[in-house]
Order: sequence, then C-alpha cells, then structure tokens
Amino acid sequence: MVELTIDGIATKALEGTTVLEAARQQGIIIPTLCYDPGLSTYGACRMCLVEVVKGKGRSSLEASCTLPVARGQVILTGSERVKKARMVILELLIASCPNSKTLQDMAANMGLNKIRFKIKDKGCILCGLCVRYCKEQMQSGGIGFVGRGNQRRVATAFGVTPEECRNCGGCEFICPVCENACLAGQLRDGLCGGCQNLVPVETCPICTHCSESVGPKGHKVY
Ligand code: SF4
Ligand code: SF4
Ligand code: FES
Repeated sequence: MVELTIDGIATKALEGTTVLEAARQQGIIIPTLCYDPGLSTYGACRMCLVEVVKGKGRSSLEASCTLPVARGQVILTGSERVKKARMVILELLIASCPNSKTLQDMAANMGLNKIRFKIKDKGCILCGLCVRYCKEQMQSGGIGFVGRGNQRRVATAFGVTPEECRNCGGCEFICPVCENACLAGQLRDGLCGGCQNLVPVETCPICTHCSESVGPKGHKVY
C-alpha cells in the first residue's frame, strides 16, 4: 500500500492506483470529462487537475486521472489554484462546444458566469471517449482521430460507415457533447443555465459545494 495525503487526510491506496481513484475512494469528487472507469485513461481534457505539493511554496498542477499515487505525495483537490485552472479549461471547452449540456451543467455548478473566449462551435472536445469505447469495448475501431492541431477531429475512414461498425450507438451514448444536447436556444456570455431552475436538483445531504456536475437525479454515478 502507498501512503499519501489528500486534502489533509492521510490515506492509503494500492500501488498502481491513480490519484483520481484514491480521491474517489475517500469520497472526494473531482470533475472529469475524458475519464471513464471502463476505458483506458487518456489525460486529454485536464478537468481533473489537482495540485501536487512539492515543498515549501512549490507545487504543480497535474491530471489526477493519469497520475499514479506515490509514497508521501501531498495532494490538494480543491485549492484556489486548482479551481481557477479548471474554470479556464471549462471556459475553453464551452467556447468550442457551447451546446453541450454536460459542459453547461458543469459551468453552472462551478459558478462560471462568463465565457471570455470567442465561441466557435466545433461539436467535439476531442476527449477521445468515443474512439476508446469503439476500440476497447466493441473491439471495432470503426472511428479514430484524423488530422493535427486545429484540424484534429474524429472521423471514419473515407467518411463512410466502416464495415467494422456494429451500429451499437455507444460512441454517441458516451459522448459528453452529443449525449445531451443543450436545448436552450440562447446563450448569454456563452452560457445557458436554461434548465437550472426548472427541475428541483437533488444535492448531497452534506453538500460541500464541489464542482461536480449535478443533474436532476443527483451526482453522476461513476
Ligand atoms: S456505433 Fe460503430 S463506430 Fe460507434 S462505437 Fe459502435 S461500433 Fe464503434
Ligand atoms: S465526438 Fe464526443 S466522445 Fe468523441 S472525442 Fe468528440 S466530444 Fe469526445
Ligand atoms: S479526466 Fe483527467 S484529463 Fe480528462
């Protein structure tokens, strides 16, 4: 077992566990987008950033879903630095996918009230969930990433439905952008908030005001 400290709590985790998994075992919620416990980790979205304390006044921000636990590690999951970094990341993601209900819900729960970046709907946050699901769960590989930099996108070979596709619909189901389209027509400062007051939200009985997305049925279950 590896001994480490998360948010001031001394804890133990199995060797090979990630900081995200160790934190969740302690009931600490860290927001994620490209992580799924049934798939390989990818470390693309950076929403799961945590602060790793490295000595007096020294620390670094690292993606907890790819960071293995280490002996003596000191982790902060909700420091001001972490919160600010997550806010900027979420702003950038919403600027590229403003109609994602998952992202808009996260913004509402994190108290994000303005998107300062230019909004250009790309319909994909390049989280890779669909690609990994197709390959790892369906053993299909019908879709993949093509292009580089700004041109990077998910596509099928030659733009046609590949023979390997099993029409399972899993790639759509798992996608945080197409899974739940935000139906509100008008965005204000890049944000929606249209459904926030329509459905009574079931929050945790001991709400700690974490930044996790809360839907009408409470927190997303991982
Ligand atoms: S629908 Fe086709 S492309 Fe999508 S996950 Fe299933 S097999 Fe892969
Ligand atoms: S299509 Fe959806 S699941 Fe696939 S990479 Fe883009 S945002 Fe992620
Ligand atoms: S959830 Fe860790 S980088 Fe996306």
